[in-house]
Amino acid sequence: MGMVKKKSEEKPKFRSIVHAVQAGIFVERMYRKSFHMVGLAYPEAVIVTLKDVDKWSFDVFSLNEASGEHSLKFMIYELFTRYDLINRFKIPVSCLIAFAEALEVGYSKHKNPYHNLIHAADVTQTVHYIMLHTGIMHWLTELEILAMVFAAAIHDYEHTGTTNNFHIQTRSDVAILYNDRSVLENHHVSAAYRLMQEEEMNVLVNLTKDDWRDLRNLVIEMVLSTDMSGHFQQIKNIRNSLQQPDGIDRAKTMSLILHAADISHPAKSWQLHHRWTMALMEEFFRQGDKEAELGLPFSPLCDRKSTMVAQSQIGFIDFIVEPTFSLLTDSTEKIIVPLIEEASKTETSSYGPSRRSNMKGTMNEGTYSPDYSLGSVDLKSFKNNLVDIIQQNKERWKELAAQGESDLHRNSEELVNTEEKHAETHS
Ligand code: CMP
Ligand code: MG
Ligand code: ZN
Repeated sequence: MGMVKKKSEEKPKFRSIVHAVQAGIFVERMYRKSFHMVGLAYPEAVIVTLKDVDKWSFDVFSLNEASGEHSLKFMIYELFTRYDLINRFKIPVSCLIAFAEALEVGYSKHKNPYHNLIHAADVTQTVHYIMLHTGIMHWLTELEILAMVFAAAIHDYEHTGTTNNFHIQTRSDVAILYNDRSVLENHHVSAAYRLMQEEEMNVLVNLTKDDWRDLRNLVIEMVLSTDMSGHFQQIKNIRNSLQQPDGIDRAKTMSLILHAADISHPAKSWQLHHRWTMALMEEFFRQGDKEAELGLPFSPLCDRKSTMVAQSQIGFIDFIVEPTFSLLTDSTEKIIVPLIEEASKTETSSYGPSRRSNMKGTMNEGTYSPDYSLGSVDLKSFKNNLVDIIQQNKERWKELAAQGESDLHRNSEELVNTEEKHAETHS
């Protein structure tokens, strides 16, 4: 009896979150009508750009413009609402908005071309896309979904625009504080948690002690695992665990999703990938300028005069991005395929068998509602889409590498400078 009761107590929680996202359009319409009085007012242009939030081709730069440079705040609010996290964890809306705004201030502190609030919004949306289209959101608990979105939003908070190695070499305060270990990543989590010690930003105020502790453990593990120096070990460990019969570690799988989202721009459309690459290179080059001033040797990719951008991108894609996404698709397949099989056997399952027969989605009060049920998950399309785009981007870099790199350097500086001027005139 005890077990039956426990199960029936747990199920509705699990169902509610899946249903909330399945009914995304409905929830969206509902909260826009009724809760926006106390919540966040969406400008029309923001509503338009967020219509693509479930797509791989989502343009975070458009959202950033439409929102007056507040893409992170809107992304956080949108996803907390869609996943019903505000209700489930009794998050005071005013705290959520104040916290999101404070995150934006921290992400803007060092005026970085790449590690800014747009990158945080991008990674958060990409995590959402992966959870949705691999079906992993059906496997995660509500607390784990909160951990995923939260960790993505804070994962580079107050990034200094310089690398861990630069902090270590210059013996910066944070390097001393964290003993040269994952210096930036430790700071991102610590500083974000410090914000929540202010009552008006304490989004986690109503979590139970257990939930608060579990969430913190997950967030720390996930953000620390975005340190690229742990990349190869992380990939190796998860690859090995896939061979074990019961080898799936929930926190490690979640960390892989965040890490993949963090390095996902080479798998996005060329226009997005090229823009992100130029921004990152300019950030690296500014570090190189500082290194030259300090008489330190250039870090890799930081010398604006000699860095081979196109070549390095091909290397980054071949050695880092492709193996990461290949592991991501293999891991999610191992988790989700048995769940889909199980759901298809159980008629009264929470995975929406009735929706499965309607793979193309439904019309709801004249609005198209996409089908987000487990049965509609198409892992092959998810994988093929990524493989195709990565391949196309590699071809583009190969063409550019063949043309010679000189034009590219000038472009990186010009592109970022033009964007900065644009941002200044708009602020
Ligand atoms: P960060 O976002 O903190 O974590 C992932 C890191 O990967 C990122 O910082 C960069 O240092 C690195 N990175 C991301 N994209 C590229 C790229 N296209 N080329 C080289 N390094 C990259
Ligand atoms: Mg980082
Ligand atoms: Zn990042």
